Amino acid sequence: MSATTAGGLGTVAPPPGGDTARQALRQVTSGVTVLTVIGSGLRHGTTVSALITMSRDPLIVGVCLRPTSTFASMIRRVGLFSVNVLANEQATVARRFADPARIAGDAQFAGLEWTTDELTGAPLISGCLAHMACQMNGWHQVGDHDLLLAEVIGGTPGPGLPLVNFAGRLHRGMPDLIDTPIASEAS
Ligand SMILES: Cc1cc2nc3c(=O)[nH]c(=O)nc-3n(C[C@H](O)[C@H](O)[C@H](O)COP(=O)(O)O)c2cc1C
Repeated sequence: MSATTAGGLGTVAPPPGGDTARQALRQVTSGVTVLTVIGSGLRHGTTVSALITMSRDPLIVGVCLRPTSTFASMIRRVGLFSVNVLANEQATVARRFADPARIAGDAQFAGLEWTTDELTGAPLISGCLAHMACQMNGWHQVGDHDLLLAEVIGGTPGPGLPLVNFAGRLHRGMPDLIDTPIASEAS
């Protein structure tokens, strides 16, 4: 099977193998977040790496979710959620909220320090690098995942270094500054 380029200018060979292409994509480094929501009195958290800035004005993020995830079904009902950006010592938090066998509801947060986001009602996990409050404003099916678009309606940055998802493993982000701020990212 061949693939046609987006502009229709010709055909390109498919990736040499789906697996090779997937491995290449795993080399894209990302941070790690826990998205939290409250619906029908139940609090829920889900570990997500696929969160990116889509627009700066207004401030909109995009999140890729498995359509079958509990978080996806809750957020479609509730519309509001919080983003907990994990710091480099929070790998156990990332694993906790990725465990498909975790107990539903508030028990997921047992033993963690957390407060309530005034804007969303969702838990804010203590010790994070940043928190954001988000309001859903779009939903699109993209292949086998869904793309949730949400406006960032509040946020608090904190000190620290990020937890990093690279090549399918979690890593501690380390201070190793090699450049001044990138102009387009500085504002
Ligand atoms: C580091 C890491 C990153 C993850 N990123 C995503 C992601 O971007 N999107 C997603 O749907 N699942 C992601 N997952 C998997 C979910 O956290 C996992 O399937 C979770 O159990 C879903 O919870 P829920 O169905 O109860 O909402 C990630 C897991 C880990 C460990």
